[in-house]
Amino acid sequence: MKKEIKIFSPATVANVACGFDVLGFCLDNKGDEMVIRKVSEKGIRITHIEGYDLPYEANKNVAGVSALSMYENINPDCGFEIEIYKNIKPGSGIGSSAASAVGSVFGMNELLGKPYNKTQLTYFAMKGEALSSKSEHADNLAPAIFGGFTLVKSTLPLDILQIPKPSELYATLIHPQIEIKTSDAREILPKQVSLKDATAQWANVGSLIHALHTSDYKLIHRSLQDIIVEPFRKQLIPHFDDVKFAALEAGALGCAISGSGPSIFALSQGKETALKVENAMQMVYSKTNIEFNTFVSDINIKGIKILKS
Ligand code: HSE
Repeated sequence: MKKEIKIFSPATVANVACGFDVLGFCLDNKGDEMVIRKVSEKGIRITHIEGYDLPYEANKNVAGVSALSMYENINPDCGFEIEIYKNIKPGSGIGSSAASAVGSVFGMNELLGKPYNKTQLTYFAMKGEALSSKSEHADNLAPAIFGGFTLVKSTLPLDILQIPKPSELYATLIHPQIEIKTSDAREILPKQVSLKDATAQWANVGSLIHALHTSDYKLIHRSLQDIIVEPFRKQLIPHFDDVKFAALEAGALGCAISGSGPSIFALSQGKETALKVENAMQMVYSKTNIEFNTFVSDINIKGIKILKS
């Protein structure tokens, strides 16, 4: 039986414009690394953290809380040590807490001989996600675990659908170096929405899912709109409207807030357009005094993966 595993836990984009709390997709080449080790001493211990200043106490750490949730469920005759090499900045809007939350449970599951399926792993990871965002949503967790695009049909019971990825679809991301806590970005949202807005929003979710299934890029363009959440949250992101305008002018199919922000994502048909969109986003932010970084990413259809075991 394996004793130690090194994994890559990917960054993700949640909401995908119209799909607040239900839609997400997985990014490539951007993510955290974690080492999970099986030890004889019972319990969950976080033994090493690099990259960002995060708590070592398992019950205060996102990776620790999801690990404890699974550990208490299976009650194994061993313990686990967790090392976290964090590359995704907390509060950046590309699923930093989700990457930590899924990493520990995925690694433990492998070392225990895979007693749980991907949906069950998502359930345990939701406990860790809730520590940081004060809400048990799974729209970053599901794409991190399953890869590609996912739709969380319900969280109780947890029901996750995998949605196909059109082959020419690329994502462009800009991350302004400000921090927005997911819990704060949820606090400012309205508790009620009008039936008119809800109708428009769920029509867009339905048509986006159809467009992803049929690789209909024009329909992706017409569906990537968020009329409910974006008007509130964009106020937290300096120059959001300018970035969106520039991205669409450069040929993006759509542009919206990544998760709860401050990162902004665009989807494009073809890598060449995605790179033009990146350039257009850079032009907007280089005129400000806010530091930022950008990248272009394929959609990662594999999700979390083993680097070494
Ligand atoms: N769906 C979540 C939100 C994603 O927008 O609040 C961020 O965790």
